[in-house]
Amino acid sequence: MDMRVLGIETSCDETGVAIYDTAAGLLAHRLHSQIDLHARYGGVVPELASRDHVRRLVPLIEEVAHEAGTRLADLDGIACTEGPGLAGALLVGASVANALGFALGKPVVGVHHLEGHLLSPLLGTPRPEFPFVALLVSGGHTQFYDVAGVGRYRLIGDTLDDAAGEAFDKTATLLGLPYPGGPALAKLAGSGRKGVVSLPRPMIDSGDLAMSFSGLKTAVMTLVRRREADGTLDADSRADIAAEFQHAVVDVLVAKALAALVATGVKRLVVAGGVGANRELRARLEYEVAARGASVYFPDLAFCTDNGAMIALAGAMRLAQADIGGGAFSVRPRWELASLPSVAAASD
Ligand code: KG4
Ligand code: ZN
Repeated sequence: MDMRVLGIETSCDETGVAIYDTAAGLLAHRLHSQIDLHARYGGVVPELASRDHVRRLVPLIEEVAHEAGTRLADLDGIACTEGPGLAGALLVGASVANALGFALGKPVVGVHHLEGHLLSPLLGTPRPEFPFVALLVSGGHTQFYDVAGVGRYRLIGDTLDDAAGEAFDKTATLLGLPYPGGPALAKLAGSGRKGVVSLPRPMIDSGDLAMSFSGLKTAVMTLVRRREADGTLDADSRADIAAEFQHAVVDVLVAKALAALVATGVKRLVVAGGVGANRELRARLEYEVAARGASVYFPDLAFCTDNGAMIALAGAMRLAQADIGGGAFSVRPRWELASLPSVAAASD
């Protein structure tokens, strides 16, 4: 059955809204980023985030409905991010979704934020078929999943400490770059030279899919302190450190992604989450995965970081299963992805 679903994402510092139609695809999407709001604090301030979602959400819903040419009454359902995320921020999305659902008599489905990221490559063309290996690289997660279908996610690799995005953000702070650090560090890396400084590739030869990024960040810290002390930390050396840091993270992620394909025997790799926007990671994976006769799928850049489209898509896939929706109003700031119920095979 075709479904037209409004998706609402408010788990952190971005208000994302979209309307996804299982037959026609993505009809409209809007995003409001709170970067300017949090920049002067150097990170996300949860209470400010919630209040800004309150201000932005309803006008954004009106905009996407207008752009999609859809009356809210014509929706088949509403999806919102139920967790994990900031409790107050999640509550804003869940309150609006449930109020709309109640007023319109439409089912509401709470979506797992990481499931949204995992399924986001399905918004693009060509669409990856199941099964695929997913590399989820965001600010909070660096994980590999063996994905057999919607809701059928087996965790096969994880970071032991910091996530790759977190390492990007912390290293950016060490180099004096503004929040949000990841994109700023990637930009600086573009003007630096790889291999001028040397940094470790933690656990690259561990023989499994485990990863670790905190040692890399510490190695940058030691380097930066030493150069500050001897007066050699100038703009060029900062850029060289950024370039080598990015190179090291990409080396590890590429090596582990190839190992994950070998370990599962699957020929499709899907990359999702904010760090998936990194151009060097995308270029290296394109090349290395193709060289092994497999395919790699990325979401469009706009759908790598948090967005409403992935929540609308994941919600539509869950709502298409008649037994879901109309559940209790809840948010789950902490929520294990592996605890999700699965959905019947590879349906749209
Ligand atoms: O998926 P996401 O938007 O939020 C969650 O964590 O759920 O990911 C954000 C992370 C941040 O750590 C950010 O620094 C990183 O993705 N990021 C990047 C790039 N763009 C965003 N890291 C490296 N290169 C980028 N171009
Ligand atoms: Zn996210």
